Amino acid sequence: MSLYEKLISYTDSDILPMHMPGHKRNSEFSGALPYSLDITEVEGFDDLHHRTGVLGELSARMAKLRRAAAAFPIVCGSTAGVSAAIRAMTHPGDTVIMVRNCHKSVYHAVELCAVKPVYVFPPSDEEFGFDYPVEPEAIEKALEENPGAKLVILTSPTYEGMVSDIRSISDIAHSHGARVFVDAAHGAHLGYGVSYPSDALSRGADAVVESLHKTLPAMTMTSALYINDEMNSEDFERALDIFETSSPSYVLLASVDRCVTLLEERSTELFAAYRQNLNMFDEVISGLKVLQVPGHTSELNVFAFDSGKIIISAKKAGIPAGDIAEKLRIAYHIEPEMVCRDYLVCITSICDTKESLLRLADALLDIDLSLAESKTPLEAPLTYPKPRISMSVNEAMNLRGEYIPFEAASGRISMTYLWAYPPGIPIVVPGEIITQQVLDCIGKMKKSGIEVRAYGTNKSGEIFVKTETEK
Ligand SMILES: Cc1ncc(COP(=O)(O)O)c(C=O)c1O
Repeated sequence: MSLYEKLISYTDSDILPMHMPGHKRNSEFSGALPYSLDITEVEGFDDLHHRTGVLGELSARMAKLRRAAAAFPIVCGSTAGVSAAIRAMTHPGDTVIMVRNCHKSVYHAVELCAVKPVYVFPPSDEEFGFDYPVEPEAIEKALEENPGAKLVILTSPTYEGMVSDIRSISDIAHSHGARVFVDAAHGAHLGYGVSYPSDALSRGADAVVESLHKTLPAMTMTSALYINDEMNSEDFERALDIFETSSPSYVLLASVDRCVTLLEERSTELFAAYRQNLNMFDEVISGLKVLQVPGHTSELNVFAFDSGKIIISAKKAGIPAGDIAEKLRIAYHIEPEMVCRDYLVCITSICDTKESLLRLADALLDIDLSLAESKTPLEAPLTYPKPRISMSVNEAMNLRGEYIPFEAASGRISMTYLWAYPPGIPIVVPGEIITQQVLDCIGKMKKSGIEVRAYGTNKSGEIFVKTETEK
């Protein structure tokens, strides 16, 4: 029996649950929530941290699908997988080569694991501002300049669907004695259909984390970590034991099981239909006059692009993406995934139907009709200024700080991360100087309705910086 079938059979039976969770699967208290299936590690249901039964079988099936040496189902999101992978692949004090546009979970892991990041900067699109895939040559240069670096960490695909050349990056890293960890939180669906970019593990990465919940039919918080046969799976087991709950949700695990079964049985058919639907979408939006959908209405000159991501810009009309998001939301009841100043992103998946993609395409055509090309297009796209690093995160976190108004922060050392969420990529990391360019960038983001968050802000919105007297 698969985990899902076993769970249904257990919860349909007359077994009296004298165990967690406290709702006891009593429908009187569940509302629309799946209390009826919600158990944790009861007898016969294996242990997520010592998988020898039904979860062991599920892990083996996942590994087979990805041709991995080992797979680890995760129910605490890729966030836990990222921390576990970085912990398993480094020792405190190691140097890691890290692409700057990593998600906050990578920064937190770097901080927790006390490794030393050396940043590599990907090129960005001149028209829209989003990052392109990182260039293998940039990784090579960083490895040459930092002999002994242990790990290369990068995001591929990015939130916008930019896929890096993992094969070349892995070959380069391995020739320098470094390993490669890919945060493929947005890439759980890659590699399944023809005409999609392949997944990172099959391109030579040593460990890859994928959020099943982002682009596959699986519940929120489900994720997977895959490793190749050069890795010691014990290290990853141990690290996951640190970062993951000891009371995993079987509703979530059953959702992983269902997702894996679907991929085993129907991936070819489902991804072929998805491709067809995306092609149809591209055909319909080819009539757009003002709105731009890079990668769909125009070619993107990048290593590879996940065309399941729909990036929409009204730049030609001189309109910030937030206004288009608002129109989609209010007039068409379509909620995008992420809104930046210069573009917004919609995520599609095999679960989108022809009708749902047509609805988005029709809405875009309709909005397009109401737009005219502006004589004053938006200014140059917003990109984050290069960081000025004063000290490491771990050094900064141990110093004394004070709250000061944002406007007065120019030149001060930040003791907090600053980012917009999504995408959760830091503009500033603790230990970096808050330059005037940083303040200008944040000002522009705020002006276009994008909220910039920081842990270290107090109720009056002041920012936490290193005290000037601190030595
Ligand atoms: C690039 C990237 N990595 C990691 C994560 C964390 O994934 P999860 O939400 O599954 O914890 C996210 C979340 O948005 C992400 O965008």
